[in-house]
Order: sequence, then C-alpha cells, then structure tokens
Amino acid sequence: MSTRNTHVCPVKKSGSLDNRVRRWLQNPQKILAPYIKEGMDVLEVGCGPGFFTLDMAWMVGKSGKVVAVDLQEGMLEQVQEKISGSEIEQNIELHRCTGDSIGVSGSFDLAFLFYIVHELPDREAFFTEMVSLLKDGGRVYIEEPPFHVSKKEFEESLEIAAEAGLTAVDRPNRFPDKAAVLQKRL
Ligand SMILES: C[S@@+](CC[C@H](N)C(=O)[O-])C[C@H]1O[C@@H](n2cnc3c(N)ncnc32)[C@H](O)[C@@H]1O
Repeated sequence: MSTRNTHVCPVKKSGSLDNRVRRWLQNPQKILAPYIKEGMDVLEVGCGPGFFTLDMAWMVGKSGKVVAVDLQEGMLEQVQEKISGSEIEQNIELHRCTGDSIGVSGSFDLAFLFYIVHELPDREAFFTEMVSLLKDGGRVYIEEPPFHVSKKEFEESLEIAAEAGLTAVDRPNRFPDKAAVLQKRL
C-alpha cells in the first residue's frame, strides 16, 4: 500500500461546488440518469455540500436509499440543512468518515465518486473497502477534474481499482473531465 500527499477541498470553498453555473455545466439529473434507478441503494463518498445527493435521493425514491459520506462535518451540515424537513430527508443517511476508512455498512448497487479520488491518500485501501460494500455486479461511477488530475493519474487509479476487483465497463465521454464506470467482478 502507498499513501500520497493530497489536498482536501475546504468547506469554505463549498460555494464553488453548488451554484447555478455548475448546475448548468454539470446537470446532476443528466449525469446521474443512466446509472440511477428507483429502488437502488447508492453510496456517495465525498458528497461535499450535496450537489448530487439531493437529486440522487429523488431518483432512488422511497424504496431506495442514499448513504452520503464525507470527511468534513461542515460539508455534511450543509447537506442536512438542504434536506431538513423535506420529503427526501428519510432516504438520505449522512455519515462522517475518517481519512482511512469509509466506515459504513451495507451492500450497494452503485457507488458515486465525483471529484474525490484525487483527494484520497490511499487509493488501494479505499478501493478494497469499496469492493466489500458493493453488491455482486454493483457499479462505481468515477469522475475526475481536468487540471488536478492527469490522464496518467486517472489511469493509475483505474489500475488500482482493477487490482481491488473492479473492472472498467464503460468510459463515458465527459470531456474535459475524465470518467469511468467500474463493475465489481463476480
Ligand atoms: C472536490 S469535493 C467534491 C464534492 C462533491 N462530490 C461534488 O462533486 O460536489 C471533494 C469532497 O470529498 C471529501 N473527501 C476528501 N477525502 C475524503 C475521504 N477520504 N473520504 C470521504 N470524503 C472525502 C471532501 O471533504 C470534499 O467534500
């Protein structure tokens, strides 16, 4: 296992993660629609201020569930504020993790990792834990930003994920971002 020095997006920058311009450029419904169906159990690691979390909860409906995980309490508090008293509050479970473990239990149809893999110090440990949280055939959606993450680093992450038991089954064109859909090997 190897650890890297990484930078975690601070809570004070969360405004740049949830605003109208981003919603126009990265429409959550459009990005999520091919992967999320009603009744699914979804794990979102690195949910930040919840830019995708709320849409996911509407999409899985009452028969599904979204477990939204973040390292920083300040990010989770923002999600809680947004869902408080709403219909979707019941289908979202918020969890604060530690830097070295996701720390949830359950068995998920999809894990959603948007702009988070480059912030992980130990990708080997992360993907090993991730595999243990997926149902057989469960999928992982990864998207990484263009400037922070080189093609080489992205491919290296996919190799690490493959060693943990996740095969790349699709490479959606999300230019200028880099994206992949992985599937747990049976
Ligand atoms: C760049 S933000 C992206 C947030 C969200 N996915 C989005 O696209 O709006 C990365 C988020 O990942 C969280 N994060 C970083 N390392 C993490 C880890 N090891 N486990 C869980 N969350 C982590 C940060 O706290 C931050 O909220």
